[in-house]
Amino acid sequence: MLLDSYGRTATDLRVSLTDRCNLRCTYCMPEEGLQWLAKPDLLTDEEIVRLVDIAVRELGVTEVRFTGGEPLLRPGLVGIVAACAALEPRPQLSLTTNGIGLERTAGALRDAGLDRVNVSLDTLDPGVFQRLTRRKRHADVLRGLAAAREAGLRPVKINAVLMPGMNDAEAPDLLAWAMEHEYELRFIEQMPLDAQHGWQRDGMITAGDILASLRTRFTLTEEGEQARGSAPAERWLVDGGPHRVGVIASVTRPFCRACDRTRLTADGQVRTCLFATEESDLRGALRTGASDERIAALWRTAMWGKKAGAGIDDPSFVQPQRPMSAIGG
Ligand code: GTP
Ligand code: 5AD
Ligand code: SF4
Repeated sequence: MLLDSYGRTATDLRVSLTDRCNLRCTYCMPEEGLQWLAKPDLLTDEEIVRLVDIAVRELGVTEVRFTGGEPLLRPGLVGIVAACAALEPRPQLSLTTNGIGLERTAGALRDAGLDRVNVSLDTLDPGVFQRLTRRKRHADVLRGLAAAREAGLRPVKINAVLMPGMNDAEAPDLLAWAMEHEYELRFIEQMPLDAQHGWQRDGMITAGDILASLRTRFTLTEEGEQARGSAPAERWLVDGGPHRVGVIASVTRPFCRACDRTRLTADGQVRTCLFATEESDLRGALRTGASDERIAALWRTAMWGKKAGAGIDDPSFVQPQRPMSAIGG
């Protein structure tokens, strides 16, 4: 088991497959991109599968989510999914993607054993999409979403970040559209994880703002703590159901007490939290011949040191050095 000193158990592993991305969302990274990780520093496909195997066999991980940067940019993705689906015990497998290229790969990913997919889409307006992501790829994302739904990757969830003066008036339209197309929409509060350090507490759209905006058009009924479990999203039934909408309020209503996550970066570092300021190196151990037991022990030690919470509101809060795109969200 991956226990921490506050009594939480991590059963959900998030694996970042690359820090690169083909979009440039303003709340994530600058136009010119970032200093990408060097190829030799990245875990190989085999190294990733070995670490996932150790996590499910020795450490009690039951769910594995592949993230990025943009995980569809990883050439070996379908093979990694297939190899992870063959592990015993078989973990639940999901993917968080910006949707570009999903049109071509959704079927192969499903055949390889992927269970679910979450796609980022912040706006229904191609022009706003281009301003937000600095790329003209809105139509690709919509086609990717449809392909995922048609491939049977259910539920298909949509992640939307609202930015002031950009897409903040769009919440009700996004929800109406998502319900019509059978996607489960979640709004995410903007977090201080951008490479440019541009996040401002006063400027962000809060869960309260989002709910107030949605309530101008819909009746929302809270689902309650039990249905939520350890999921970051709080959910509401829309107009009595069956559709739901989620809000991931990492800043104003943090859910750290129920956190069940452990993270692996593309260069093989364990992170205990999105906001952790320290990491533990598993790649070095892998490459110097460590046994599965030794790697499992290193991972357990790392997780024991997990902090109580993200502490965004603490006066002593410091943003982690690694930006969101290199952590994997
Ligand atoms: P589901 O299992 O489908 O609910 O996935 P998820 O919502 O956990 O994953 P996804 O990758 O879609 O992430 C949605 C948003 O939640 C992203 O903005 C993530 O950064 C954020 N998120 C995921 N895990 C954590 C976490 O442990 N802490 C915080 N604060 N945010 C998280
Ligand atoms: N705050 C909140 N969400 C973010 N994402 C990327 N950067 C941030 C941020 N600073 C979102 C992406 C994607 C998910 C994995 O995280 O839009 O949907
Ligand atoms: Fe790429 Fe995701 Fe960052 Fe947007 S938020 S630039 S899609 S990694």
